[in-house]
Amino acid sequence: MAPVDRGSDSSSKPPLTKVPRHVAIIMDGNGRWAAARGLPRATGHRAGTENLREVLRAAVEFGVPVLTVYAFSTENWERPKHEVNALLTILEQVIENELDELDASGVQIRHLGRTEGLAPRLVRKIQSATERTAHNSTLCLNVAFNYGGRAEIVDAIRRIIGDGLPPEAIDESTISRYLATHDLPDPDLIIRTGGDMRVSNFLLWQGAYAEFYSTPTFWPDFSRDEFYAALQAFQQRKRRFGRVESQS
Ligand code: FPP
Repeated sequence: MAPVDRGSDSSSKPPLTKVPRHVAIIMDGNGRWAAARGLPRATGHRAGTENLREVLRAAVEFGVPVLTVYAFSTENWERPKHEVNALLTILEQVIENELDELDASGVQIRHLGRTEGLAPRLVRKIQSATERTAHNSTLCLNVAFNYGGRAEIVDAIRRIIGDGLPPEAIDESTISRYLATHDLPDPDLIIRTGGDMRVSNFLLWQGAYAEFYSTPTFWPDFSRDEFYAALQAFQQRKRRFGRVESQS
């Protein structure tokens, strides 16, 4: 992939020579960003949504072909009802207000996660957004919403059993094929904002060999430049995939 030209502010920064094929982001810190400003948590989520636009643009600019964002986990249902409602409303509004622009920019939208528990109207909107953008190819955006890595693996195993596969026919590639990401590369890089160093049930199968990048920056402040810094850090990593360096 050609090095990315970052324009006039890139002079002191080396070009990106090794861009991850798939970057996944745990967008953490919206609540603390809001609390630091004396604002409600939902305002933090809205600021985080605004920031996602910037990061999407940056992903296209830097040549990242697949981006997965963790927007709502299966555990997030335990949050106060008004916060859950705010996150559900944000997803609906993002689809309503941003779909034309995302589609025009060539973004293919996919949903990772369960639809059970989501309102039928929201499910229809998700389905229509994914169908409408299915042929776009500038960037594949996976929105993990009502998503849990364990639940995803359980669902895959249920379908494998439902399809009648005998135990001896099941290997790692079978599980991968039954995940919603079956036709996508595994994430090369998982970024977590907000300072914690946990995987939090995110892409447990696909992230087996992902490089992890954690930053204390709260998600609404995670800028294009910091995204670039994460990609630079990635290209310094020596990935061995369980082998020794001379083999990798
Ligand atoms: C974690 O921060 C963030 C979330 C649970 C929600 C992330 C959602 C968005 C950024 C909105 C984008 C939405 C869509 C639908 C694309 P936190 O609330 O746990 O923050 P804290 O750790 O500071 O409390």
